[in-house]
Amino acid sequence: MAAKNILVTGGVGYIGSHTVLQLLQQGFRVVVIDNLINSSEVAIQRVVELAGDNGNNLSFHQIDLRDREALRKVFSFTKFDAVIHFAGLKAVGESVQKPLLYYNNNLIGTITLLEVMADHGCKNLVFSSSATVYGWPKQVPCTEEFSLSAANPYGRTKLVIEDICRDIQKTDSEWKIILLRYFNPVGAHPSGFIGEDPRGIPNNLMPFIQQVAVGRRPFLTVFGTDYNTKDGTGVRDYIHIEDLADGHIAALQKLIEDPSIGCEVYNLGTGKGTSVLEMVTAFEKASGKKIPLIMDGRRSGDAEIVYASMKKAERELNWRAKFGIDEMCRDQWNWASKNPWGYGSPDSQS
Ligand code: NAD
Ligand code: UFG
Repeated sequence: MAAKNILVTGGVGYIGSHTVLQLLQQGFRVVVIDNLINSSEVAIQRVVELAGDNGNNLSFHQIDLRDREALRKVFSFTKFDAVIHFAGLKAVGESVQKPLLYYNNNLIGTITLLEVMADHGCKNLVFSSSATVYGWPKQVPCTEEFSLSAANPYGRTKLVIEDICRDIQKTDSEWKIILLRYFNPVGAHPSGFIGEDPRGIPNNLMPFIQQVAVGRRPFLTVFGTDYNTKDGTGVRDYIHIEDLADGHIAALQKLIEDPSIGCEVYNLGTGKGTSVLEMVTAFEKASGKKIPLIMDGRRSGDAEIVYASMKKAERELNWRAKFGIDEMCRDQWNWASKNPWGYGSPDSQS
């Protein structure tokens, strides 16, 4: 059977680069488009190296998703079997400060992509949604049927895109769409060659802990110690990036093999909740480094406990996460200790 052609938008970013590597390793031909607004081309060079001979099956175009003509050109050269759509801006706080930037980039980018896909007869899509659409869940674990809400413009872009996907599939049954709601991706490829490299001050827990461990920041601020949880700190469902990438391959197989999929949504998590302090302890164990803490008040907009029900993905995608927090911290530390400044150098960071 001929190798399938997959277009990956945002494939240079954190989740994209790990997924592209797995796609290549499994024999897919991959075209990546990315405008590098939040990523470094070094990541894609390292993916090619890690993929060995299969690295020849990757091509990269530095283009913005909203550049319709450039996108058309990419589609005119290759007939894609499916698109995995990661490209988007993702910083919650920034989205509150610059809502139009987020609506413009995430919504117009996605609409342009969907229009060009339809024009070229490619109607198979996997989209990166987020557990953020569950807001502050009334109960846990979160199932895919929960009511949805958004607490900020970033979250609203995910809700709107999910709705757009359901709408287009309803009116045109040729569309096959899988919406993946990620919980909290952490860790890195076990080689320590690729990993997460946020620009500026990290918003998320693990990149922050990592930067404290390598000496780039003096302490971690713990946001909230009075939650109704085992130790008072917030609880999340952390998932190893390798498991998350693998979940995309499972979704792609489902899309390719199931003619009646329509538009389906799946959680990608582990189904387990871990507190901030538990994560700090696991990272200290993996790294042998002490993480100094400052206990502070709650961060505005944060939920208390969020973790996934994994029943639907296990049943229908035949997929489940393999790794626990010890492996997540081990691989995060391996990446951090080999690349304390990410893909850059001390001069290129704030
Ligand atoms: P990332 O920022 O590392 O990767 C996103 C990539 O998209 C970047 O390489 C960026 O340069 C590119 N991009 C952004 N706008 C673009 C545009 N207009 N045209 C072309 N490229 C563009 O983020 P990530 O963590 O890899 O996340 C990937 C997707 O998963 C995003 O849609 C994000 O919202 C979603 N998601 C991430 C998390 C998380 O915690 N990392 C959780 C839930 C959902
Ligand atoms: N936290 C700290 N200190 C920090 C950073 C985070 O104590 O410096 C705490 C938070 O308060 C929270 C937990 O660590 O209790 C996890 O916080 P993250 O920012 O890492 O993750 P969130 O679950 O708050 O949000 C992230 C993304 C969202 C996405 C969501 C689900 O930022 O965009 O995961 O995928 F929607």
